[in-house]
Parts: sequence; structure tokens; C-alpha cells
Amino acid sequence: MSWINSLMARSMGRKPKAAQKPQPNLVFAAPPTAREGVSAKKPVDAAFPRFQSMAGDQLSPRLNDRFASARIKLRSAFTPSQPITDRKMFAGRTDVLTTLIRSIEDQRVHVIMYGERGIGKTSLVHVLTQAAEEARYIVVYCSCGAGSTFDEIFRAVAGDIPLLFHSGFAPTTDAAERGGTLADLLPTTTLTPRLVADLFAKLTGTRVLVVLDEFDVCDSPEFRRNIAELIKNLSDRSIRTQLVIAGVAADLTELVEHIPSIRRNIFALQVPKMSASEVNHLVENGEELSGLTYDKAATDFIVFVANGSPYLASLLSHHSGLAAIDKGRTHVAVEDVSQAVDQALTEFRGRISKHTLLQIDQAGKTGVRHVLGVMAGAALFNNGRFDDRDVDAVYPSAANAASFKATIEELAAKHMLLETHEDEYGRGYRFAEEAVLPYLWILAAQKRFLEGRKPAVADKPAVPTTEKAAIVAEKPPEKPADKPAQAAIATPRAAGRS
Ligand SMILES: Nc1ncnc2c1ncn2[C@@H]1O[C@H](COP(=O)(O)OP(=O)(O)OP(=O)(O)O)[C@@H](O)[C@H]1O
Ligand SMILES: [Mg+2]
Repeated sequence: MSWINSLMARSMGRKPKAAQKPQPNLVFAAPPTAREGVSAKKPVDAAFPRFQSMAGDQLSPRLNDRFASARIKLRSAFTPSQPITDRKMFAGRTDVLTTLIRSIEDQRVHVIMYGERGIGKTSLVHVLTQAAEEARYIVVYCSCGAGSTFDEIFRAVAGDIPLLFHSGFAPTTDAAERGGTLADLLPTTTLTPRLVADLFAKLTGTRVLVVLDEFDVCDSPEFRRNIAELIKNLSDRSIRTQLVIAGVAADLTELVEHIPSIRRNIFALQVPKMSASEVNHLVENGEELSGLTYDKAATDFIVFVANGSPYLASLLSHHSGLAAIDKGRTHVAVEDVSQAVDQALTEFRGRISKHTLLQIDQAGKTGVRHVLGVMAGAALFNNGRFDDRDVDAVYPSAANAASFKATIEELAAKHMLLETHEDEYGRGYRFAEEAVLPYLWILAAQKRFLEGRKPAVADKPAVPTTEKAAIVAEKPPEKPADKPAQAAIATPRAAGRS
């Protein structure tokens, strides 16, 4: 594989050229005089970049741009860097929410929600919280940190539960009337699961949901063991407190490896990728809130590249909306999404190490990068993993499949972009860096979507064989918006495996 070898030589052996020494500065420039303009007062430069709105969200009084208010609305219509907190912006997921509510309300179990980064766990938790609060549950939300301890978290939880729900304090007692909380009853010694369960056993007249979000961030075995013990205690004694745990994990075992004994007491839910109609819904919600309109083709492009990820959908909708506004339009077209995709690619590139970028760019000189991109699309919602079956799904011809499998094997053997990975599904591959997945997928999806839109031209430039096979196998569907997002990519087994 000549390009692999040449790359190996570049990334391992050859030293970069020594940077040229700066030439001594022989001529000293005189400082500019006032007449040359530096200290002379200039009129305020209208083109100098400015904030467009005030910190209090009002429009800047300096601005007479008629699109400034559209820009402000767009900012809160799509929030790619923040979870959804407002039900108006929450798209789809009605089945998931119904299942969660039923398991909390009817089965009285504790809930564990797990899934890939950015799949929408925190947004789901926020919407679930609102629904529970409407039913008068007391919901205490905690975002776990690397150093979170059981003691610290449950003192904070107890501090949010009013004493008037403690069976030992009538609502008219002084302590309850003064706004006391369960935290007032805690000892100064370190809290144990038994102690917390004893206290919560006294709750009456309400139910409490304790939400532990970003659970994966705290990997202290002691913290996890304590949580497991608490769940066991709460369940065995039918205490009116339930836990909702959310975190990034490939499977449940990874998230609760220290708590195998509580499987009977929990409902575990893997948050699925969004269907195409849910991503469409996400764009429609944003249209309503921002006042912008997205062309059908623009929405299709977003749905196709998002590949079921609410994060990617929100990011592309946001960037493309801004691109349209910058061009003085309130309707968003395919070219704006294309610009947004380029911007997203630049952002993702910035998250990849220089060494890996070099390998990616080198792979781009052959057809390999495109097909790796399609594999990345399959791996995005499969814990970053793909295997030979995904290759077979992409290549219609056995000869091409065999050749690409050999290339993948060689890449993995040389630790270039890929590594081999064994798990219960057998031998597969993983991308060496997490940020490579969305980057390669977006590159491939952009190319595929735009190829699918091109009118057939007789003298089209030749496509490398490997790339051609992939393009043939993965033409965008006729109407991507009407089909589930999975249908648009070559991952027929991804759902079954996860
Ligand atoms: N149902 C939804 N409707 C609209 N946008 C959504 C929805 N779910 C998630 N998003 C968007 O997707 C992005 C990621 O969502 P969120 O932060 O909830 O994911 P997460 O799984 O908690 O991520 P992480 O693993 O990083 O904690 C956010 O920008 C959010 O605005
Ligand atoms: Mg989250």
C-alpha cells in the first residue's frame, strides 16, 4: 500500500526542516508620526467587529441591521452547545419519554439512560424533569463532576427537600414553617447509603426524583458502589425516592459495572439516534422560533449529514441560518448548509491531533478516506466500532470488499487512524481518535449528498475505483426526509447490534 508506506515515512522518520533563523533587523523603522495617522483620531470604523446584542439581550442601539433580531432569535432557536431546557425546542422522542414516565410512575423503578455523546440525554432529562414537576414530584438535578462524592451530592439533594414532607414534622411546626430542609437532620459524619435511605424513608405526601447526569464523568468505584447500595436500599424498602442516572456508555455494564445486583430494580434505556422525521421536526421547531425558513433541499441536506444526531442537526441548522442571514436572506438554501458543513468540518478538524490530520489528508489522496467516512457514519452510533460486515454492506462487489478489507487491516496493523477491537460481536475496528468519526463522516456525507444532486454529465471526471463502489452503493435516497435516518446510511446491522 504505497500511500500508507509514504505516510509512515513522513510521520516517523523524516525531521521537519529547521525553521529559518530570522534575519537581523538592520534597518530600524522610525515610529509612525502623528501625521501618518497612528495617533490621529480616526472616525469609528463601522467595519470593526462588534457584539450585535447587549448582555441583557436587547439589540445594540448602534445597529440598524434589519437582520439583527433574526440573528438573536436564531441563537435561541438552535443551541448546539447547550442541552434543550425548553419543551418548545424539544423535537421527537415522544416514545422514549412515554417509556421513561411509565417506568417511573407504574413500575417504580430507577432509570439509567445511556448513549453516545451528544445523543440528547441531558435534554431528555430536562424535559422529563418538567413533566415530573407538573405532577408535583420534587426533582433534584445534579451534574456529576470528576471529584463528586456521595456525601456531597446527597447533602445537596437533602437541602432541596422541604422538611414539611418529613413524616416527623407537621406542616405547622416551627422548623417546617421556617423553610427547613432534610439537610437540617443530617449528621456531620460522612453520609452512607443506609443513612440517606433511612432519612428518605420518612418522606410522605410527595415523591422525589434524584437526577444524576453525566454519571460517567465520575468514575470513582466508591461513588458507584454507594449509588448501587442506595438503589438497593430504596427499592427493598419501597421508599418514595427514585434515581434517574444519565451518562455516556456503550452499554449498561460499562456504566454500572460495580452494581450488578441491582439489575432487577432498574430500567435501562439506550437513547437511540433520531429518525429522519425527528430531525425534520428539530429543524421545523427552529424555523418557528427564529422566523427563518429552510428550503426542502436544505433540510434534506441537514437530515442527511446529521445521520440521526441531534447535536449535528442543531449545529448545521444554526450555522446555515447564520450564513443565510449574513447574505441578507431569511430563507436558508442548500448553499448555506454547504457553508455550514464546511464550518463544522473546520471546527472538528481543530479537535483532531496534527499527527492524525496528516494521516487523514494523505488518505484523502486515494479513495480510502471517503469509504472510511462511510464506516465512520456506521460507527458513530455504535460505540465508534465497525467491522467487516459494514464493509460488505457498502461494497456490492466481493472483490472490492476484499480489497478494502485488506486496506483496513493494514491501516489497523500500522496503527494509522484505526485500531483492531475485540468484543462480544467479534473482531472489529475503532477509530484511534474520537473526533475523527464525525469529521470523516461529515466529509463523506457532504460529498455523497452533493454528488446525488449533480445532474448526470457525460464527461464527468473518473472516480477512483474504491470510491466509485462506495458512491454506487450509497446514493442518497430519493426522499431522505421521509425515511428513517438509518436508511440513508449503509449500517443495516447497527441498530440490531446496539
Ligand atoms: N430532542 C431534541 N430536540 C432538539 N434538540 C436536541 C434534542 N436532543 C438534543 N438536542 C440538541 O443536541 C445537542 C446535544 O444534546 P444533549 O446535551 O442533551 O446531549 P447529551 O447526550 O447529554 O450529550 P453529552 O453526552 O455530551 O452529555 C444539544 O445541542 C441539544 O440542543
Ligand atoms: Mg449530557
